[in-house]
Amino acid sequence: MNLVLALLLLLSNVSSEDLSNVTSTVKVQFTSRVVENEYIVVFKGYYKPSTRQSYISAALTNSGVADWRILKRENAASEHPSDFDVVLLKETQKYTGLDALTEHPLVKRVTPQRLVYRTLNYVNSTEDGEKVFRRKMKNLNESWANRHTNRRLLRAIPKQITSVLQVDALWKLRVTGQNVKVAVFDTGLAASHPHLKNIKERTNWTNEKSLSDTLGHGTFVAGVIASSSKECLGLAPDAELHIFRVFTNEQVSYTSWFLDAFNYAILSKITVLNLSIGGPDFMDHPFVDKVWELTANGVIMVSATGNDGPLYGTHNNPADQMDVIGVGGINWADKIASFSSRGMTTWELPNGYGRVKPDLVTYGSGVRGSALKTGCQSLSGTSVASPVVAGAVALLASGFVGDLTQKTRITPASMKQALLSSARRLPGVGMFEQGAGKLDLLRAFYFLRHYIPQVTLSPSYVDLTECMYMWPYCTQAIYYSGMPTVVNVTIINGLGVSGHVANVTWHPYLGEGYGEKVDVALTFSDVLWPWSGWLAVALTVPKAAAGWQGVAHGHISLTVESPSQDDQDTEAVRSTINLPLKVKVIPTPPRHKRLLWDQFHNLRYPPGYFPRDDLLAKNDPLDWNGDHIHTNFKEISK
Ligand SMILES: *[C@@H]1O[C@H](CO)[C@@H](O)[C@H](O)[C@H]1NC(C)=O
Ligand SMILES: *[C@@H]1O[C@H](CO)[C@@H](O)[C@H](O)[C@H]1NC(C)=O
Ligand SMILES: *[C@@H]1O[C@H](CO)[C@@H](O)[C@H](O)[C@H]1NC(C)=O
Ligand SMILES: *[C@@H]1O[C@H](CO)[C@@H](O)[C@H](O)[C@H]1NC(C)=O
Ligand SMILES: *[C@@H]1O[C@H](CO)[C@@H](O)[C@H](O)[C@H]1NC(C)=O
Ligand SMILES: *[C@@H]1O[C@H](CO)[C@@H](O)[C@H](O)[C@H]1NC(C)=O
Ligand SMILES: *[C@@H]1O[C@H](CO)[C@@H](O)[C@H](O)[C@H]1NC(C)=O
Repeated sequence: MNLVLALLLLLSNVSSEDLSNVTSTVKVQFTSRVVENEYIVVFKGYYKPSTRQSYISAALTNSGVADWRILKRENAASEHPSDFDVVLLKETQKYTGLDALTEHPLVKRVTPQRLVYRTLNYVNSTEDGEKVFRRKMKNLNESWANRHTNRRLLRAIPKQITSVLQVDALWKLRVTGQNVKVAVFDTGLAASHPHLKNIKERTNWTNEKSLSDTLGHGTFVAGVIASSSKECLGLAPDAELHIFRVFTNEQVSYTSWFLDAFNYAILSKITVLNLSIGGPDFMDHPFVDKVWELTANGVIMVSATGNDGPLYGTHNNPADQMDVIGVGGINWADKIASFSSRGMTTWELPNGYGRVKPDLVTYGSGVRGSALKTGCQSLSGTSVASPVVAGAVALLASGFVGDLTQKTRITPASMKQALLSSARRLPGVGMFEQGAGKLDLLRAFYFLRHYIPQVTLSPSYVDLTECMYMWPYCTQAIYYSGMPTVVNVTIINGLGVSGHVANVTWHPYLGEGYGEKVDVALTFSDVLWPWSGWLAVALTVPKAAAGWQGVAHGHISLTVESPSQDDQDTEAVRSTINLPLKVKVIPTPPRHKRLLWDQFHNLRYPPGYFPRDDLLAKNDPLDWNGDHIHTNFKEISK
């Protein structure tokens, strides 16, 4: 089945002189389909081609499968050991073959090869792109729409991202992107471009003769990261660009092309990789595993959360992974762009609770970047916000890598901690929309300058009385006999790529703190890998507090332990952090004021749907007026 992920980008082809009012909108769609009879066989380790062939041959020949062949892959990764092969099986013996391969002790997983198809549909329009989104949302309640869409504010006014982010201050310190390798996974790039002076390598992962961009998308993002043109400066002009051409001119790619290119990115010791693909389809196992492997190898992954807003629960993979920096978009007036996908993450549902995402937000409307041949263009979308963060990460990293006197280690964890700890909170916006807040480049730089390996949490505190930030939690107090309220907190472990929770303890503030009025149950990841894990806080009210009303306080202390990074030292390293907790408790409402969970009325939500459960909503067919534990009793317990 083809799952379609619709990304809507607004591309206004304005050169620097001509700020025409005509906005051309390009609608980007990813579709993918299974390629018949081709299978990705992933091994548990990396082996030479002949070794892999002998394993596959042993598995298949022993079970009598005669008609098979390993597809040849010729690319920059071919001369290195690999962890996968693409096997072609004939229809007749397909199932026998698949069973035989899966049973081989060194085979980790067998999955179908997928073809990914990206489409760009240009639409000319004189109206604001935001208006298009408004139409898309016409079924939603107006007040909801108005909260997220303010036409006047969202009009895309192209600006120099570098001056808005005060990049000059870092350039003056000679922090300009030097020694940092940025991978661009897109449609390629011309061998030389007037704006881009440091194109280190262009690699070929497609079956086409060309390495150049014909569409302008790859050029634009490379420009946002590293352009040295005065008209549209990139953030890190001295960064080394590693161009991975993974899409053909027809915008086609395959799982295997991506896997090979990812392996090569690990070998090339890439510092920052902004992922140019996303969507529910890519919750594809080899893909998710590979992203974990990249971060485990120190590659900082940045990805756009998606353009499926303003609905909640619309994050794309891989931006929703704990180890990836997921970026949402805001406009120049610091409002969350309506197109920006909102949290929580949904793949934990229905067996658990989702986590806070995006991680942070930055400008994604009317950002100027390099045009295909010369000049600049301006573009909108979260896929614009993510190269802004990728550029920022490259710039920040360049202040520390390559300088051996610097003690600060740039890792996916320390970088994410820097970005999140320094981000500026946007007022009146919930954490599922803004994450830690808006990117603040300079504060992130100073955070890294004084960095000591440590553990941090996202969100960094749990105050269920704080609206809007803790929405929707803040709209409902908890009471005796209610379902537990769960907050799934992300642990970011700067101590090392792997670690574990050594101690987690709830410290109620007794007496005037009323901490004894809540029961706190804690569950957490067995292992923190790569660089991250989770701590779920479940809150209930004990019987003794059934009639009580007030606010209970306390904190949770968490100690994480990682193996020492230093070979000399065999002692494990530890870090402790506190998670302050504040929650409003009310007496159990009388029975007639409570809505009961109605399992017969409840329906199975489509994947990625975040139930809003508004008791007043009349026009959302999937809103069952308060049947979801997350938002149940929402209106009465205020
Ligand atoms: C573009 O908009 C500006 C003000 O918004 C207006 O003055 C100008 O006439 C418009 N240009 C065109 C070509 O419509
Ligand atoms: C959009 O406008 C451009 C000129 O601004 C024109 O060349 C192009 O054909 C138009 N495309 C469509 C689909 O109308
Ligand atoms: C939208 O919901 C609000 C309450 O949340 C209500 O007052 C308003 O009338 C609704 N508007 C429409 C168009 O349904
Ligand atoms: C890229 O690799 C494919 C397959 O190995 C080959 O057919 C194509 O010519 C290569 N393109 C370039 C530009 O080298
Ligand atoms: C970054 O990722 C976004 C989508 O996540 C994509 O649209 C954009 O092209 C990517 N940029 C680079 C530099 O790879
Ligand atoms: C918290 O999130 C993690 C990872 O997303 C998930 O595996 C886990 O089940 C969640 N925990 C709870 C209690 O929902
Ligand atoms: C865990 O931490 C708490 C206080 O932070 C302490 O009282 C307790 O002894 C610790 N437990 C272990 C096993 O270290």
